Amino acid sequence: MSKYIRLVLLSVFILTVVFSFLLSSAARAVESAGSKTFISRGCGSCHRTARPAGPVTRSSELAKKGPDLWYAGSKFREGFLASWLVNPTPIRPLAYNSLEEKNPADHPRLDVKTAASVASYLMDLKAADLMSSVEIRPGVNVRGRILFIKKFACYGCHLVNVRGNKAGGLSGPSLEGTVRRLNPQWIYSLLINQGAFTPVSRMPIYEGLAREAEIKALASYVAGLK
Ligand code: HEC
Ligand code: HEC
Repeated sequence: MSKYIRLVLLSVFILTVVFSFLLSSAARAVESAGSKTFISRGCGSCHRTARPAGPVTRSSELAKKGPDLWYAGSKFREGFLASWLVNPTPIRPLAYNSLEEKNPADHPRLDVKTAASVASYLMDLKAADLMSSVEIRPGVNVRGRILFIKKFACYGCHLVNVRGNKAGGLSGPSLEGTVRRLNPQWIYSLLINQGAFTPVSRMPIYEGLAREAEIKALASYVAGLK
């Protein structure tokens, strides 16, 4: 090999190393900007971003001021958080952990750029070990709808949009627009292993109560709600 070729190969090698280092540190900078904002804006005073290390108690869970975000990357659809953090329209009709007060609709707002970096930090918080690999396709699922409304009375606690009208109960998060908000795989994973995500909850445990096929139909119906 001539000296010249060796020199060219060596420079290509060095450039590749330098370039990939720059790229990965740029990615880290974006991620750390999101987590820094999360801390500096006090988001951590209401939201957990790490899985509780040990068993939780009923009183510790009921004292929480906001929903857990340690599995945000598994729960939410790509793109949802970045837009919700700019315009946080209420998801739960009632104030968090309350059965009386209305949701005050006063969630902190972020500007578009900050929201994107916080969203990218949150979407990296995954709970891969709790996610089922069963494929759930969002869609108009008649069986799921009947199970949701009649057999398991999910409707008693969750709002849905029926032909343009809001209908259903208020004690759970609204399930309007889940087609843009929730990852179908997560909905199924929640229904088969609720205790892993929300160990203390007003929502009944359906694992063991509903059959596998029923849970699949429910997840597919919920995942497709407009
Ligand atoms: C005073 C407590 C409080 C603070 C501070 C707070 N949040 Fe929240 N957050 C809540 C509550 C309560 C909800 C539920 C809102 C709803 O259902 O409409 C929520 C919902 C969310 C959700 C949707 C989660 C879900 O499961 O529905 C995200 C994401 C979120 N907050 C991120 C943030 C970020 C980022 C910050 C910091 C800029 C922040 N929060 C600051 C209380 C808080
Ligand atoms: C007695 C009231 C109640 C019933 C019945 C109920 N849920 Fe829930 N559900 C809740 C509450 C409360 C939460 C919020 C979880 C928490 O914070 O503990 C929830 C959370 C959820 C979530 C996650 C929503 C989010 O944005 O975090 C889904 C999906 C869900 N329920 C689906 C169902 C389905 C499907 C059924 C019927 C098979 C059902 N629920 C029955 C009260 C209920």
